[in-house]
Amino acid sequence: MEEQARSCLLRFRHKLVQDIKPTYLMDHMISDDVITVDEEERVRTQPTRKDQAAALVELLLRKDNRSYISFYNALVKEAYDDLANLLHAGLPTPYGENLWDGREDLLTLAFTVEGGVPQRPVVFVSRPELVNRVQEKLYQLHKISGWVTIFGMAGSGKSVLASEAVRHHGLIEEVFPGGIHWLSIGQLDKPGLLVKVQSLCFRLEQSLDAQSRHRPPSSLDEAKECLRFLMLRKYPRSLLILDDIWDSTVLKVFDVHCRVLLTSRNKSIADSVSGSKHEVEVESGLDDKKALEILALYTKTELKKLPTEAHSIVRECKGSPLVLSLIGALLKEKPNRWPYYLRQLQQKQFKRIRKSSSYDYDALDQAMAASIEVLPEEHQELYKDLTVLEKDVKIPAKVLSVLWDLELEEVEDILHEFVNKSLLFVDSHNKPHLYYLHDLQLDFLLEQNRDQIGECARAACAPCARASY
Ligand SMILES: Nc1ncnc2c1ncn2[C@@H]1O[C@H](COP(=O)(O)OP(=O)(O)OP(=O)(O)O)[C@@H](O)[C@H]1O
Ligand SMILES: [Mg+2]
Repeated sequence: MEEQARSCLLRFRHKLVQDIKPTYLMDHMISDDVITVDEEERVRTQPTRKDQAAALVELLLRKDNRSYISFYNALVKEAYDDLANLLHAGLPTPYGENLWDGREDLLTLAFTVEGGVPQRPVVFVSRPELVNRVQEKLYQLHKISGWVTIFGMAGSGKSVLASEAVRHHGLIEEVFPGGIHWLSIGQLDKPGLLVKVQSLCFRLEQSLDAQSRHRPPSSLDEAKECLRFLMLRKYPRSLLILDDIWDSTVLKVFDVHCRVLLTSRNKSIADSVSGSKHEVEVESGLDDKKALEILALYTKTELKKLPTEAHSIVRECKGSPLVLSLIGALLKEKPNRWPYYLRQLQQKQFKRIRKSSSYDYDALDQAMAASIEVLPEEHQELYKDLTVLEKDVKIPAKVLSVLWDLELEEVEDILHEFVNKSLLFVDSHNKPHLYYLHDLQLDFLLEQNRDQIGECARAACAPCARASY
């Protein structure tokens, strides 16, 4: 039996066992010549209807595509419409293709809602190119397990992108018929991680029959084994989405040869796990039109009628989806504050650009600070020194080697770490490589370190930076 058919049966086994009356269904299957009279007898002699149903599903799992199709047809003939709908997605091709009749959106909805995939933000603009890139990578998990990492700086839209990429019926149907399971991770300690994995195992076991359920894992090792069993045996060809990973040791628990999509600010977060790996970078902000669209949607204004401040805000934050949605949400309540919020942004008053939303951090500075706080202390100090960089100026490692008084190689390693954590960007088309900060990062650093970094440091470094560029 094809894997997609098998995983569909496994996925809905519990529901089937609850609902079907096997005797009637088996009559159809005998006439289709997919089960024998002896097999039917063995099922029929089970003590209760539920046991019979469980035995029939067990028997089916050992059979071929024709048996699946016959079982599906029997469900239709016996008016089990709901169950037939559930099993429809698993119909082996080309049979499935012929029957496909527009129920795909329902399938996508069912899979993403059931799997805990967050809904779109209230104001949403599409990013088709990025979505396509993520989907392309996810299609590569068709035949083999592996990891797709979406990485980029704070608030660049990674989580929104991940949830958008899996809302696609073709992808679900072809690559992840076993389902989609979203898990928000964030910065966790070990007990916190255990609770997360316990809740995931609990969720996955809910749709299984009672016998297949285990007691909750009590250690991370047990949790990993539980997850391995569930992902390989019960949910083959499903996708696990791990949102917001900070620590690569967290990933070790999920290193069980399954298919994973993860978001992180750290590019190399998946380096230490095994299997095929793919990456998608969310580097740039939104283009001007999309960025303005966010402000227009929040303020219910036509694009053409947006005030000039709207354009300045977009320019100032380089199209950052987070900043635009924070400011948009504020403007929605105070529509006459365009000049005020633009001024706040220009004066780097990030604390005043604050709005509670579904986003984990309610102010831009908190989101940025979180990335810096996870650096080793001595690197935090070095990162602070980047305050001397100038907007739109890219510098080679050599300049920082002078500023930090460190060997070039050591500087390159540190910069590599910053780049990996999306705290710094690199232009690798140039030799030597040139490094630069996103405007918002530079503004944040300036705001944070106004007192520490004197004008003299700036004056000392700026000419040097320009000279070497
Ligand atoms: N396509 C989009 N359309 C509209 N708003 C968006 C879009 N993408 C992101 N946003 C806004 O930006 C905010 C931050 O996005 P998201 O949570 O995806 O960022 P992130 O890159 O995952 O950040 P972090 O690194 O902190 O996890 C969202 O809460 C949403 O308001
Ligand atoms: Mg996120």
